Amino acid sequence: MRFIVCENYDEMSARAADILASQLILKPDSILGLATGTTPIGTYDKLVEMNKAGKIDFSAVKTFNLDEYYPIKADNDQSYRYFMNKYLFDRVNIDKANTHVPNGEAADPDVEGKAYDKMLAEAGGVDVQILGIGRNGHIAFNEPDSYLIAGTHKTALTEDTIEANSRLFNDISEVPHYALTMGMASIMSAKMIVLLANGKGKHDAIAKLLDEKITPDCPASFLKLHPNVVIICDKEAYEG
Ligand code: F6R
Repeated sequence: MRFIVCENYDEMSARAADILASQLILKPDSILGLATGTTPIGTYDKLVEMNKAGKIDFSAVKTFNLDEYYPIKADNDQSYRYFMNKYLFDRVNIDKANTHVPNGEAADPDVEGKAYDKMLAEAGGVDVQILGIGRNGHIAFNEPDSYLIAGTHKTALTEDTIEANSRLFNDISEVPHYALTMGMASIMSAKMIVLLANGKGKHDAIAKLLDEKITPDCPASFLKLHPNVVIICDKEAYEG
């Protein structure tokens, strides 16, 4: 696991965007694993700039997002599909048919989870996976528990995550209590993983990543088992 500690959010975003841009230059038909949340917005902004400047091309790129609230309609402005369209897909030359987000309207979450993993495997697997990290150490919506789940599945959000995400809603009562999320095996099968973290609120989670222990109490700690992980964080997340 490699650590890159940046001065601030802007530098963190630039470093992450550079890695993704290099990936697209070397392999124009890359499969990118994408995250939502506040953390990657700066990275997406930089990718949009590079795309507009003609430095990178999304026309052959496929994407798979980590998660989606459940149940939620795709056109709901709190859905992760809506977020991705707004911050990235509508701003670059990507074919929307090549963008995948778990279906928050699926009738049967088990069927949707299996279909999502199958589609990902058939596409050839993720080349570079972008991750954020919950302040409780979750990755995607694999929440701390006594066990973790391998494949894409429906999960209950913890009180901490509901509280953390309520900042983006009018009222905490509006935050969905469930999500569809890639499981740990889906995430760990990516060829390269880039985890981003900024701000003091992420320090405890980053400290657990630096600790020797691998525990379902901190799902991100399993990243220590992956051979190709880069953590890019700002000083606040690193030093607390
Ligand atoms: C989002 C996701 C979550 C977030 C995490 C951090 O797709 O999978 O694990 O990455 O909750 O969220 P922010 O970036 O809003 O702090």
